[in-house]
Amino acid sequence: MKRILVTGGLGFIGSHTVVELQNEGFEVIIIDDLSNSSIDVLEGITSITGKKPIFEKLDLKDQSAIQQFFKNYTDIQGIIHFAASKAVGESVQKPLLYYHNNISSLVYLLEEMLKNRVNNFIFSSSCTVYGQADVMPITENAPFKTAESPYGNTKQIGEEIIADTSKTTNLEAIALRYFNPIGAHSTAKIGELPIGIPQNLIPFVTQTAAGIREQLSVFGGDYPTADGTAIRDYIHVVDLAKAHVAALNRLLDKKNKQSFEVFNIGTGKGSSVLEVINAFEKVSGQQLNYKIVDRREGDIIEAYADTSLANKELGWKANSTLEEALASAWKWQLALK
Ligand code: WQD
Repeated sequence: MKRILVTGGLGFIGSHTVVELQNEGFEVIIIDDLSNSSIDVLEGITSITGKKPIFEKLDLKDQSAIQQFFKNYTDIQGIIHFAASKAVGESVQKPLLYYHNNISSLVYLLEEMLKNRVNNFIFSSSCTVYGQADVMPITENAPFKTAESPYGNTKQIGEEIIADTSKTTNLEAIALRYFNPIGAHSTAKIGELPIGIPQNLIPFVTQTAAGIREQLSVFGGDYPTADGTAIRDYIHVVDLAKAHVAALNRLLDKKNKQSFEVFNIGTGKGSSVLEVINAFEKVSGQQLNYKIVDRREGDIIEAYADTSLANKELGWKANSTLEEALASAWKWQLALK
């Protein structure tokens, strides 16, 4: 069995990717520092696949711990790197925490993996690198805009570190620029576990419907869109997880055309906040209590992906509809009670 390291593998996207890797017959090792995830997710993964991943609690800011890890675990065929802090608002308040956690750990991981002749690397990037793109749908050639937050900046810097490193070492890397991941595994044994008040739309929607939150605030009703609310490309997290397996296989099969490649991973369809609310009410049968309030600082108007490059080169396409993804998020919320 090919052995794959997944950093941040107990997180929302990481855990769903571990399940898909195991389904494909890979042996998975998870590194996670549990700073924004729960050890219970390991049991959730195991209950879905019947295979318990190897787990190492490790802080990637500790370079000697990474050196020791590669002494303990040899013959790793590839790494999928999710481990990072990802709250946009928090990053504005604590920039150094984000640059330290997201950039130092990336540099240490790259240094140690290459020393140990592990060359295949999948990087968790984000459509946030585009800022408010000028043209919809957004292609991979859209330019980086000045990042709206230190979080977004760490994704831009991360891609540039990988691109530069791949030019002068044996690193073979792919960055996947996620649009908006939502939903949960169909078994409702793993899903999104926001700690505290959810920053993202869908967990706030499901927690409001479940009576945990009083009312959803819709951030802005005066955007230049059909219904005045902002538009995003909401992709089912399982579709996103499968894109990681496709990207990893591209590197393992040496089908990549450059030593650093980038792909937009979305559905290619934009949905407004009000369209999401209407779709959620339809699939859940719940009337959602919401109120349109002022725009949120730093939000963009519209983002949805041109996914033709990933469709063609990765042989991957998102399958789930917005309704199916929202239904899975609601099923997960009900299972959490
Ligand atoms: C979606 C839409 C909000 C909450 C961010 C990061 C991105 C990625 C996904 C990490 C926006 C509106 C939200 C609420 C609302 N994160 N909204 N009420 O901001 O598109 O992307 O999360 O990788 O990198 O930038 O996602 O879910 O926060 O917001 O009206 O309570 O929902 O204004 O239009 P976003 P989001």
